[in-house]
Amino acid sequence: MSAVAPVKDFLSILDLSAGELTRLIELAAQLKTDRRLGEQASTARALGGAHVAMLFEKPSLRTRSTFEIAIRELGGHPLHLPPEFANGAREPLEDIARNLERWVRALVIRTFAHEKARSVAAAAPTLHVINALSDAEHPCQALADILTLRERWGECRGRTLAYVGDGNNVATSLVHAAPQFGISVHLASPPGYTLPAAVIEETAPLARSGARVRRFTDPREAVAGVDAVYTDVWTSMGQEQEADVRRRMFQPYQVNSALMGVAALHALFMHCLPARRGEEVTVEVFESPASVVFDQAENRLHTQKALLLMLLS
Ligand code: CP
Ligand code: NVA
Repeated sequence: MSAVAPVKDFLSILDLSAGELTRLIELAAQLKTDRRLGEQASTARALGGAHVAMLFEKPSLRTRSTFEIAIRELGGHPLHLPPEFANGAREPLEDIARNLERWVRALVIRTFAHEKARSVAAAAPTLHVINALSDAEHPCQALADILTLRERWGECRGRTLAYVGDGNNVATSLVHAAPQFGISVHLASPPGYTLPAAVIEETAPLARSGARVRRFTDPREAVAGVDAVYTDVWTSMGQEQEADVRRRMFQPYQVNSALMGVAALHALFMHCLPARRGEEVTVEVFESPASVVFDQAENRLHTQKALLLMLLS
């Protein structure tokens, strides 16, 4: 299985070309099939005992667990660093990175300011740095989302997905990725919470097969006839003090049966998780046959394995 990409870091979906992204998704699908081989899988020792450091400044179930399992199943060793190291109080984060690069092959980092991940990557020229979510982007999530859509749809070209909710880190990476697979994206957010126009502009030249990203205010207009509806929490980690205001602003953007009823009959429901049932999505939609949220969660493992192989092996 050939997996080499000439990239050092994965801080953004935009760090990989459309061709590399396609190869990554194909590799992930293969790794998913091969997982049943366990130790007999051809990739079981691919990392050759390399260490991969993990620094998570915010809570995580999916990202942290799937990276740990991915590293182990590829024959590497995870090294967990205490979250408070990320605040730079004991020593600058750049110095931590310069230490780590003498011992480990990669650093998986979840932090607040995206700039922090960038400066860590710049400080350590031989350390592969992977963004496990920043306030600005969540590129690992978008990889799993694309694999999930590919599994459900076969061919992604010509499909349309509506993202209803906050124009946040998850929305940004989804908009970076989906058009590169020929998927159009309709965005519906309340005024003041829309995805920055710059995100749409930087992705437009990369779109394939005529895929377009369009912004809407009315969620029903955004969802009309689409093949999938995606949402995320209204209040992301670090925004807890805004929760009451956000709950009021986002109420008309709840994904419920009435809204799903406007989408195509076969439309999927997607969520990166964790979900707040009764807020951005109703229990009914979350638990419906349309919901592929646990496929997305499973696919975090396979896509991150593929990513580690592409960056490190
Ligand atoms: N979707 C996601 O990144 O989940 P965690 O915050 O649990 O890692
Ligand atoms: N937008 C959410 C995603 C969690 C996986 C957050 O940043 O908290």
